[in-house]
This record gives sequence, C-alpha cells and structure tokens, in this order.
Amino acid sequence: MAKKILLKNDHIPGIQSYDVYRANGGYASVEKALKSMTPETVLEEVKKSGLRGRGGAGFPTGMKWGFLAKPPGVARYLVCNADESEPGTFKDRYLMERIPHLLVEGMITSSFALGAETSYIYIRGEYYYILRILEKAIEEAYANGWLGKNILGTGFSHDVYMHIGAGAYICGEETALLESLEGKRGNPRIKPPFPAVAGLYGCPTVVNNVETIAAVVPIINDGGEAYAAIGIGKSTGTKLISASGHINKPGVYEIELGVPVEEFIYSDEYCGGMRNGKKLKAVVAGGSSVPILPADLILKTAKGEPRLMSYESLGDGGFVSGTMLGSGGFIVMDEDTSIVKNLYTFTRFYHHESCGQCSPCREGTGWMEKIMHKILDGHGTLNDIDLLWDIQSKIEGKTICPLGEAAAWPVAAAIRHFRSEFENYVKNPSSIRDVKHYFRVNNLEPALN
Ligand SMILES: Cc1cc2nc3c(=O)[nH]c(=O)nc-3n(C[C@H](O)[C@H](O)[C@H](O)COP(=O)(O)O)c2cc1C
Ligand code: SF4
Repeated sequence: MAKKILLKNDHIPGIQSYDVYRANGGYASVEKALKSMTPETVLEEVKKSGLRGRGGAGFPTGMKWGFLAKPPGVARYLVCNADESEPGTFKDRYLMERIPHLLVEGMITSSFALGAETSYIYIRGEYYYILRILEKAIEEAYANGWLGKNILGTGFSHDVYMHIGAGAYICGEETALLESLEGKRGNPRIKPPFPAVAGLYGCPTVVNNVETIAAVVPIINDGGEAYAAIGIGKSTGTKLISASGHINKPGVYEIELGVPVEEFIYSDEYCGGMRNGKKLKAVVAGGSSVPILPADLILKTAKGEPRLMSYESLGDGGFVSGTMLGSGGFIVMDEDTSIVKNLYTFTRFYHHESCGQCSPCREGTGWMEKIMHKILDGHGTLNDIDLLWDIQSKIEGKTICPLGEAAAWPVAAAIRHFRSEFENYVKNPSSIRDVKHYFRVNNLEPALN
C-alpha cells in the first residue's frame, strides 16, 4: 500500500474548505507548535525528521533553517517557492489545488520556528486559478484566528501574502525569485551572501518549496522521529512524484521514498505499466534538468542492484550511470521515442529561459539549440556531436546559477547513453523527412543558420 502523509485526506469531499480541513485535524500543528513548543523545539523536530528540500536540490531543511541569521531588530522572512517551473513537474499544483490549507498551515508553523512575522507565497503566473484558491484559504485562516495578530493568544503574529510571477523558469531559482518578489527583473544573484543571511529586502530569508513546507505539518503533528522512520536511509519520508509520458496512468503519486523504480513504473498502484504494451526506452527521473537514463540503468544500477526511488539510489553511479531525484518530475519514454527530438525540445527551452547574465549559459544554450536544430534539419555532421559535448562541458560550473548545469546535463546524458541515435540522424538523412513533419506540426520554424 502506498504511504500517504501529505495526500492522506485528498479524497475527502470539500477538503479545500476550512471547515472540512479543520474537522479532519487541520491546523493541529499550529496549535501544538504555538502552545506547547518553542521555535527551537520545532526546528529540532524538523532536523530529526531528516526532511530534505523537495524543490530539486534535496538540501536538508533543518540545516537550512539553522543557518538563518538572527540579527536583533531585523525582520526575517519565509518565502514559499510555488513557481513550479521545472518541465515535467506538476505536483505542487496538485497539492495547492487539492489541499490549500495544508500549505497555509505549513507556512504558519514554519514561520513560527523561523521567527518570521511575514511570509510570501511566490506562485507562477500560469497558476492564476490556484492563486485564487490559496487566497480564499488565507482569508479563511485569518477569519478563524490562525493568521494575524497574537495568534491563539500566544503573542506570535503572522501575515501571509501571495505574489504572482510572470511565467519565467528562472524565477524558480531562489535568488531570481527574491529579485522578482522585490519588483525587479528576475536575475539570479551572485552567492554568497546566501538568502539565509541577506535575502528578501536584504534580510535573512528561508526559501522553501511548497511540498517541503507542507511536510512540516505531519512532522510536527507526529514528531520528527516518526517521519524519519518512513523512507530509506537519508531519503526520509514521502515524496510527491509527477509521472508523465508513455505510461497507462500519468498523475501525481505520493510514494514512500525507497520504492523500486520498476514497481513505480509497472505496478497498478502507480503508473500501471507502459502504454500499449510498448517497451521502456528511457526515463528522465527528476524533471527536465536531470540526466536521462536508458531502461537498463533506470531499472538497475550499474552494480546490478534494483534502482530505488530515493536520492541515493537514483544518484548511484554519479552522472556516468546514475541521475537525480530532482523535483520528482518522472518522464517515461517508450521504444518509439526519439531521444534526439526530445533533447531538441529541452535545448530550445533552456535557451529561451536563460536570463543572459553569464556568457557560457547565454551563448552556450543558444549554440546547443542551433546545433540540435542543424542535426534535426539534416545538415549535421559527426563533428557536431563532439561540438555539442564540448559546449555542454564548458557550461557546467562556470555560471552564476545552476540553470547553466540544468541545460548542460541533459545534453551530456543524451550523448553519453544514446550517441548512436545522434549518429543515425547524421548518417541517415532519410530519417529526416519525419523530422520536417515534426517541425511543421510543432510550429518550429527551421530558421536558424
Ligand atoms: C533554474 C532553476 C529553477 C528552479 N525552479 C524551482 C521551482 O520551480 N520550484 C522550487 O521549489 N525550486 C526551484 N528551484 C530550486 C530553488 O532555487 C531552491 O533551491 C528551492 O526553492 C529551495 O527549496 P527546498 O529547499 O524546499 O527544496 C530552481 C532552481 C533553478 C536553478
Ligand atoms: S546561468 Fe544562465 S540563467 Fe543563471 S544567471 Fe547565468 S545566464 Fe542567467
């Protein structure tokens, strides 16, 4: 049976509304934290839980909170990253849409631990309808005394504000998000200083993903140890996975970390197997930025052990034979998928979304898109494949923010595992006819030289 913590009440009719949410145990973590705990003991529970950030990097949440600077007389902020911009990822949307009060509750309990009297939820422009859902939940929380001044008579006051982005991938990067929240163009900042020291308006700030903040609720309700007992090794708790692609049952699944990848793809409890009985060809396991793996390496590690849905197991083998859990955007591809066409879509995306501050990313993403286009347009050479490899290797580690790596890793992995497919496009121009059709139906102007 799937272990449900975040989505355990997802099936209850009306759970979006305050009354039903409260009747099913809602806001108990706020009551517990504010009335019987201190900010320090809440932080202790989060540390004990082993919770790792669900936005993509998997950084330990308790450790991040522990870094928050506390200069006297200076405001501190909690900012919820609801930008959900990583292609293949749609789990925050599901959580906010279905159980909006869980996020609001998590914001209050987390802010209490951080000593933040103000918090923000930064949500992507495309989620306008969810903005409305969350605004209603926030209003209800104010009306019932969970937000505002002197909550539950404990002396803790808190206000939550929503802020809507304009639809840029880069605004999901935490420092670009803070710039955007301050009303500026969403360009990532050079770190250090890190947001924990100088974040929003120059004040100490914690930026956390929607799912991370929601997970604080069961951690405080049931205790950090109970949460840490779920999952495997340092991958504690549950994770929301956005499953898409050529599977029978695409959707959002809450899994206990440690479920075998094979079970996740083939069991009826999750993806329900491959669509039309096709063979599995490859998986992008953690959103478009993480390395693609061919079927044999996603199902088993290079050592022949079953690959598990956990930070460690998916990372086993580094980028030579492994990948990352990332944001949990699990894109499944069957035997008919062209890895080269798929990669072209990704390279177009990253070129479009680069903010342009650093040359390796600004120029490199453009060059990669152009070379991919050239190969798909029937004019590629074998040298172009080496050139692609060379360009991606010169982006990694040389940019202000990780968008550079996010653009480079998919290229490296596609060439590493599927080089023969690139060579086939170069050596066999007859396969190109199909590509011209692809350009046409997808409205992609083959106008790059
Ligand atoms: C280009 C780029 C886009 C990102 N997009 C998101 C996003 O949409 N949502 C998110 O939570 N984190 C995103 N991140 C990660 C954030 O920078 C940050 O690490 C995260 O919000 C921290 O929250 P967590 O510790 O709870 O994971 C992105 C990072 C990069 C480099
Ligand atoms: S790596 Fe790319 S997106 Fe990030 S700051 Fe540099 S140019 Fe902008």
